[in-house]
Amino acid sequence: MNETLERWGSRRAFILAVTGAAVGLGNIWRFPYVAGENGGAAFLVLYIIFVVSLGLPVMMAEILTGRAGRRSPSQSLAYLARQAGHSSHWRWLGVFGGVTVFLILSFYSVVSGWSIEYLVHAVNGSFEAASPDRVSAEFEAFLADPLRMTFNHTLFLFLTMSVVAAGVSNGLEKLNNLMMPLLYALLLILAFHATTTGGFAEAADWMFSPKWEALSVGVMLNAMGHAFFTLAVGACALMAYGAYMPDHQSLPRAVGMVAVLDITVALLSGIAIFSVVFAQGMDPAEGPGLMFITLPIAFADLPFGSLWLGMFFLLLLLATWTSSINLAEPMVAGLQGIGFRRSRATALVTVSVWLAGLLSVLSFSTLADVHWLAGRNFFELVSTIPSDVFLPLGGLLIAIFAAWVLPREVALRALDAGPNGFRLWRGVIRYISIPLMLLVLVSSLI
Ligand code: PFF
Ligand code: NA
Repeated sequence: MNETLERWGSRRAFILAVTGAAVGLGNIWRFPYVAGENGGAAFLVLYIIFVVSLGLPVMMAEILTGRAGRRSPSQSLAYLARQAGHSSHWRWLGVFGGVTVFLILSFYSVVSGWSIEYLVHAVNGSFEAASPDRVSAEFEAFLADPLRMTFNHTLFLFLTMSVVAAGVSNGLEKLNNLMMPLLYALLLILAFHATTTGGFAEAADWMFSPKWEALSVGVMLNAMGHAFFTLAVGACALMAYGAYMPDHQSLPRAVGMVAVLDITVALLSGIAIFSVVFAQGMDPAEGPGLMFITLPIAFADLPFGSLWLGMFFLLLLLATWTSSINLAEPMVAGLQGIGFRRSRATALVTVSVWLAGLLSVLSFSTLADVHWLAGRNFFELVSTIPSDVFLPLGGLLIAIFAAWVLPREVALRALDAGPNGFRLWRGVIRYISIPLMLLVLVSSLI
């Protein structure tokens, strides 16, 4: 544990690390396609409500727990619970988080691999002047090729785990900080360009004027799950980062910015993507391929399109890289906590995530019609249940822990927002966040 403690010497570095964890595939790839599958505007409104009322308070709960415990998530939970006279069985919450990040990382790495493939294609100019039909045909062909997908998945996971093994992502966070504004600028250009296309009006209407009759418990659950996913909350992954948070830094101030950035990146990519969807007469509920089919079409319209496209996927890769490092960290910290050396722990996580990822790879070819549960193949399963059910469930338990189990002084100190800030946070989490999470989770059960 101590070999990585004090990893982030400065406040700025901590904010960068959390931003790096939050902004990733969730904003640019997952948000548009899940919004598409859930009918658009109503989902969007719910997602923003949940980010503010659940995501942020629980994010603070999670980070402050790690900060107060200064150990791996499981150890922090057990230690703090024991100190407060509660059962050390709370450690199982950390284990549950480990299972969640394991499943998420296994498909996250595969989809990030798709970006590697697209980066290479863009650089080769193979999307130049490509017709929409050809773009989708190429995507289909790629999905049907498990070897190419495995290669990219392997490469991405290797890149991620080599940073995790070193235990210092400081350099990467700085690079990310440099690139994030560029990614933002590119999305702005795309969104602006979208206003000049024939699909913009329809896209804006579909995204921003809610048709409440489309609302269902399922849509609510998905919006809640996505709010957690996009903020990287609910799997104890940020708890692991909280353990390295410096003293004397107000937590609410640190995470407020992260949420704003996270939402705006999602909105910009939504506008860019759905304008193409409507201009081309595509189906918004196209699914996980949505971004990979629409963006090459959008960029092909711009001068030097391939150049921009290549740059976009490079920046996206950087964003997903820092997110996947965050996904891996709690597993490695957890194994270290039970006595593994960091290098062994990293190797073990790498091999098992890689193997699980293969099942996702094959879900687009050989195993496409093998349904594991609820009529879903492996990829469909791991890209939904862990995010939409495990993260909110983990978030609920983390919230209960921080708001009801932790002694007041401990939480107050770790939140570092003064007595009034603390009262506000605890009021919101006790009487708004926890009941709301319970309500959505329970009603989706029945
Ligand atoms: N927040 C990341 C994204 O939006 O891409 C994904 C993620 C990271 C989810 C870490 C969960 C997590 F623990
Ligand atoms: Na995100």
